[in-house]
Amino acid sequence: MRKLSNLAIVCWGAVAMLAFSGASFAEEGAVTANVTNGKNIYDNGKPDAGVPACASCHGENAMGMDAMGSPRLAGVGYAYIVKQLTNYADGTRNDQTMQQMNGIAKSLSVQDKRDLAAYENSFPRVSDNSDLKALKADGKPVGETSLGQALVRYGDKGRVSACMSCHGFNGRGAAPIYPKIAEQKYVYLVNQLTHWRDSSRANDPIGQMRAVAKNLTDADINNAAAFLSQAPDSTPGNGMELDNKSDMKNIKIVR
Ligand code: HEC
Ligand code: HEC
Repeated sequence: MRKLSNLAIVCWGAVAMLAFSGASFAEEGAVTANVTNGKNIYDNGKPDAGVPACASCHGENAMGMDAMGSPRLAGVGYAYIVKQLTNYADGTRNDQTMQQMNGIAKSLSVQDKRDLAAYENSFPRVSDNSDLKALKADGKPVGETSLGQALVRYGDKGRVSACMSCHGFNGRGAAPIYPKIAEQKYVYLVNQLTHWRDSSRANDPIGQMRAVAKNLTDADINNAAAFLSQAPDSTPGNGMELDNKSDMKNIKIVR
């Protein structure tokens, strides 16, 4: 473990240049995204290819479900969603929750992935937050939102970087690289932070999330997830744009 993180620091500069040259995020050439095809796959799957409807696990409005550990996809970020589907397809990210996403993503074409990401980016901004009281009543450990807010905004000097420094005010997202983590589902947030911490999720291009998560305690994870799962993302602050919806100006949207 220790060796690995030293190596990561040595490689930091070189890899950072590569990652931020845009190679892994910006799509080259004229990109078209068909929202109608995205909605069709989202609602009905691709029965011939054995792809189930995304809605069956992510919900009809793409808000995610705590009962399944599935994430919200609406408004999380166009480029980020394309990247995750690509990572599931090529095996650089493994679905450790329901073991479904790798097979599903392999059966989607490159164009399907763009169409789905564009559809998921087209939802109006609404809240459908985790019911923390119900999760607690079910025996799930739930953190303290006030402690989570402090960690998200300020971090813990010398130990944990402020989440906001990359993910934007209250975790509202900073496309194309940093996903929206505000109003993400609680169970999914806890799972991902745990996976970043033990490096069983390692598809962050330059190891930023693994570096942040390695010092998180269980309590930090539960606290941050409790706050983020309820964090309104429309509050102005931090000099960020009010609505950080993905910039789609380089993508031709067809319906
Ligand atoms: C059987 C349930 C199920 C179905 C069907 C399903 N998903 Fe998922 N999806 C999940 C779960 C559970 C996760 C979290 C996996 C993990 O822990 O990595 C997930 C994760 C994702 C992520 C990662 C999101 C993020 O914030 O990083 C994307 C993108 C995604 N799914 C898209 C889709 C699309 C598009 C479809 C339809 C073509 C689909 N899913 C169908 C259960 C499902
Ligand atoms: C130095 C920048 C940086 C900081 C600080 C940071 N993150 Fe991240 N985070 C990232 C990047 C980059 C990704 C996307 C990785 C990828 O491409 O899969 C990410 C992804 C995530 C995800 C996965 C989201 C999803 O939809 O699957 C979660 C959850 C997350 N971060 C939570 C946090 C929390 C909580 C903190 C503060 C304790 C934090 N991050 C601080 C860079 C950062």
